[in-house]
Amino acid sequence: IQNKVTDNFKRPLISLRISITNRCNVKCFYCHHDGIVPQDYEMTPKEIERIVTVAKELGIEKIRLSGGEPLIREDIVDMVSKIANVGFRDISLTTNGILLEKYAEKLHEAGLTRVNVSFDTLNPETYRFITKRDYMENAKAGIQKAVESGLNPVKVNMVVMKGINDNEIWDMFQFCRETGAILQLIELLKTEADKPGSFFDEYHYDMGELEDELTEMSDQVKTRKFMQDRKKYFVEGGEIEIVRPMDNTEFCKNCTRLRITPDGKIKPCLLKNDNLVDIIEPMRRGYTNKELKNVFLEAIEHRKPYFTNGCHAKS
Ligand code: GTP
Ligand code: 5AD
Repeated sequence: IQNKVTDNFKRPLISLRISITNRCNVKCFYCHHDGIVPQDYEMTPKEIERIVTVAKELGIEKIRLSGGEPLIREDIVDMVSKIANVGFRDISLTTNGILLEKYAEKLHEAGLTRVNVSFDTLNPETYRFITKRDYMENAKAGIQKAVESGLNPVKVNMVVMKGINDNEIWDMFQFCRETGAILQLIELLKTEADKPGSFFDEYHYDMGELEDELTEMSDQVKTRKFMQDRKKYFVEGGEIEIVRPMDNTEFCKNCTRLRITPDGKIKPCLLKNDNLVDIIEPMRRGYTNKELKNVFLEAIEHRKPYFTNGCHAKS
C-alpha cells in the first residue's frame, strides 16, 4: 500500500481509534475509558473529518469510534457519514449497545460497516453489579438489531472476570451463536485508577486453560496477525476471539493502531498517558494538512510496545 507509515518498531499504522466523548450511560467499575485522560471536550464532526482525511494520507485504512459511549452523541450519524465520504474500507464503533436499537439502521446506511458491543453478562443482577444500571435488555435488543441491520460482523465484547461472569462463557457463546454475533473474550486489564488489592487482583481471570480447551474443540484456529496476533476459534458453528494482551508476547509487537482522545490528542498507546500529542489545538490555530501530518508523525515517533513477555516494559 502506498504511503504506509511504519513506526520505529516496524509496525505499520493501519487503524485509527477515535474516542468521541467521555460521557457514558453506564458506570462499569473496571472501565479503562479506552485509555482516555479524563477531560471534557468534544470534537465536531467537521474536525473529525479533517483528522481522518490526514490519517488517510498516512495510510490509515480503518476507523473505529469509541467513547465513553459514542452513541450518546446526537451527531453520531452525521459523523459516520462524513468519515464514510472520506473513504475507508472499515468503519466500526465500540458501544455498550443500549442505544443501538435506535441507531443501528441509520448508522449502517451512513456507512458504518460493523460494531463491537461491550456486554459481559446475561444475568440482570451481574449486569447491575458491573454497570450500576439496569439496561441489560436494551443492550441485548441492540445486539439483535445490529445483526438484523446488516452490520457485519457484530462482536460481543465480554470482559471475563473471576467469580463474576467466568461461569457464563458458554451461555454467552450460545447467545452469540443464536444471534449471529462473534463472541470476543477480553482479558481484564489494570487501569491507572486501580490500586493494589483492588479489582484487578480480585477478578483477573487467566484464559490460558480456556485457550487450550478451545484449541482441542475447534474445527479451525486462525491468527489475526496485524490485529495483535489474536486467535480466532471456530467451534460448533460459532466463533470466539480472544483478546489477551498480557500473556501474548506478540500482542504489542503486532499493534497497528493509533488513538485520538476526545479532547483531540493523539495517543500512541492505549496504556500510556504521558506521551500524548495535541492535534486539535494546532488544527484550530490554522495548521495545513501537511503540518497536521507532521503532528501525526511526531506521535508515531513515540510508539513503543507496552506488554513484552507478559510483563509490561518499564519505560
Ligand atoms: P476489532 O477486533 O477489529 O473489532 O477491534 P478490537 O477488538 O480491538 O476493538 P474493541 O474496541 O472491541 O476492543 C476490545 C478490547 O481490546 C479492549 O477491551 C481492550 O482491552 C483491548 N485493546 C484494544 N486496543 C488495545 C491496545 O491498543 N492495547 C491493548 N493492550 N489492548 C487493547
Ligand atoms: N480491561 C479490559 N477490557 C476493558 N474494557 C474496558 N475496560 C477494560 C479493562 N479494564 C473493554 C470494554 C469495551 C472495550 C472497548 O474495552 O469491554 O468493550
